[in-house]
Amino acid sequence: MSLIPDDVIEQVREAADIVGIIGEHVELKRTGTDFRAPCPFHGGTHRNFAVIPKKGMYYCFVCHEGGDVFTFFMKRLGMDYPTAVREVARRVGIAIPERGPTGPDPREPLYGAVAAAADWFARQLRESPDAQVARDYLASRHLELAVVLPLGLGYAPRSKAFLDAMKGLGVRDEVLLEAGLLVKREDGTLLPRFRGRLLFPIHDLRARVVAFGGRILGEGEPKYLNSPDSPVFHKGKLLYNLHVAKHAMRKAERAILVEGYFDVLRLSLAEIEEVVAPLGTGLTPDQAQLLARHTPHVILLHDSDDAGLRATFRAGDELLRQGVRVSVATLPVGEDPDTLVQKRGAPGLEAILKDAVDPLERKIQILDRKAFFSSLPGRRRALDRLLPTIRAAKDPITRELYISRAAEAAGVRKDVLEREVVATGKTATSTVPYRPLPPSTVLPASAEKALVLLMLEGEPWKSRVAEAVDAEELAFPPYRAVFEAVADDAVLALDDTSARAYEQLKEEGLGGRDPNEMYELAVNWMEARRLERQLQQLDDQLPFESPERQASLIAEKRRVFDELRKRYPRYKIAARRRGAPGT
Ligand code: GTP
Ligand code: MN
Repeated sequence: MSLIPDDVIEQVREAADIVGIIGEHVELKRTGTDFRAPCPFHGGTHRNFAVIPKKGMYYCFVCHEGGDVFTFFMKRLGMDYPTAVREVARRVGIAIPERGPTGPDPREPLYGAVAAAADWFARQLRESPDAQVARDYLASRHLELAVVLPLGLGYAPRSKAFLDAMKGLGVRDEVLLEAGLLVKREDGTLLPRFRGRLLFPIHDLRARVVAFGGRILGEGEPKYLNSPDSPVFHKGKLLYNLHVAKHAMRKAERAILVEGYFDVLRLSLAEIEEVVAPLGTGLTPDQAQLLARHTPHVILLHDSDDAGLRATFRAGDELLRQGVRVSVATLPVGEDPDTLVQKRGAPGLEAILKDAVDPLERKIQILDRKAFFSSLPGRRRALDRLLPTIRAAKDPITRELYISRAAEAAGVRKDVLEREVVATGKTATSTVPYRPLPPSTVLPASAEKALVLLMLEGEPWKSRVAEAVDAEELAFPPYRAVFEAVADDAVLALDDTSARAYEQLKEEGLGGRDPNEMYELAVNWMEARRLERQLQQLDDQLPFESPERQASLIAEKRRVFDELRKRYPRYKIAARRRGAPGT
């Protein structure tokens, strides 16, 4: 292992004068903000070789050699990576501690294999006749080949040509398997993982390619296929484009989090470079922490559909837990960042970013629009949806402001809400046990299962259920996981246990039951459980209140209990409760 810490490498890269260094090897002439020269790699005579100081990169438009100041030394002078870093460090006067006793990084062959594959895929996209479909696809999305090639995009052909090409380069099959670039079939034969897909290279923080995201051309399943985790790639710990965005983030003092590869691509091309995306899952705590290390402020820019909103608030809570300032930008319905920038350019996007609001405020807006604040149970449910965000806020001032704002919106006393915020990390799950439903000809074994079965029926049930119930309210973990995955269109992200539950439920289906009746009963049952929780909370609160306040709480208990009975006459209050309500 080179043992040069990442931040030192970054420091060196930032300090390096790439124009001066490359200028020692070729004669550079300024053209606008870039510098041009005849290409030293393919020995051209025209000035097709560009050095782009703003990005710390070079690129030849003819032979497509490209990279940063370190790759220049590696490719021109045959240095290995650590030597190139040391050489540049020496020139800029940054001291690097001597090499440690450890040998070379055992993962070096993996990096080499993925890099070789990336080069080969990019070459296919550029010039292979087989890749015409991919070039046409890009054109249909208004992306010019000349603009995407420098970003390293590639094409994996349908054929097995990849196998021979890698063999020709001396890359071993075992290494390709470990990197997830090959799959082994049951009969033992090897197959390229990516076939007939447009490939987005995924880089680590040191700008090494470690994986790919492969989009199918046109319609089909799955839409994206990603490299599996490997010793060099952990999808929950890396963000797409962070190797570029981290520099831009520092200057812009913000990061923009989008959902997809194409969104990142389009924003980068519009010269908004502080943009990253997760890798096919919701934002993980590790990814939130990674962002927090690079920026004080994240703007969430997701689609305005239900799945986009859910992803927004989840990501928002993760980031708030890291003490990051968060804003939520709202796209017009039906647009994603990609289409918006195509239509309105960078200025159109900036206008939307400028209107971004705080995530708690955005939640309140949405709940208000759905009339949550106009009924008593609605206000309770609204608070339940605001609480996770309030609790997530790590920054004490933000949290204080959130409590005030939520108390005002829901019309509850601030001190009561404050107590609820601190008293519990308790959710519906931990206060109310999972219990089967009373036997019924209409419902399956539980209301939770009924809701998940309905969601699996697709629209309109999916939206209706997602609207009425929060995933957090489901106490049975596999059902909750399936519920979330279906709501977020992320079924492929399920773990094995939940994926099995998903398959079984899919198979089972509604079994001839009437979905309307099932929906009614299941949603009422969930509401009853919510009300039961509310009763428990009132009970917990009672002993600490003044006598007048106790009287009003008892009155509230009666109201809640009546509501509960109305919803679900056969609902049995859990054993924990002592005595009848209101006694
Ligand atoms: P387009 O729809 O072609 O514009 O691509 P997109 O990048 O905008 O993708 P989309 O908004 O549909 O999804 C957002 C991200 O979720 C993608 O970039 C992928 O990272 C991931 N994703 C989408 N579909 C799948 C899938 O079928 N499997 C996996 N593993 N990830 C997916
Ligand atoms: Mn898209």
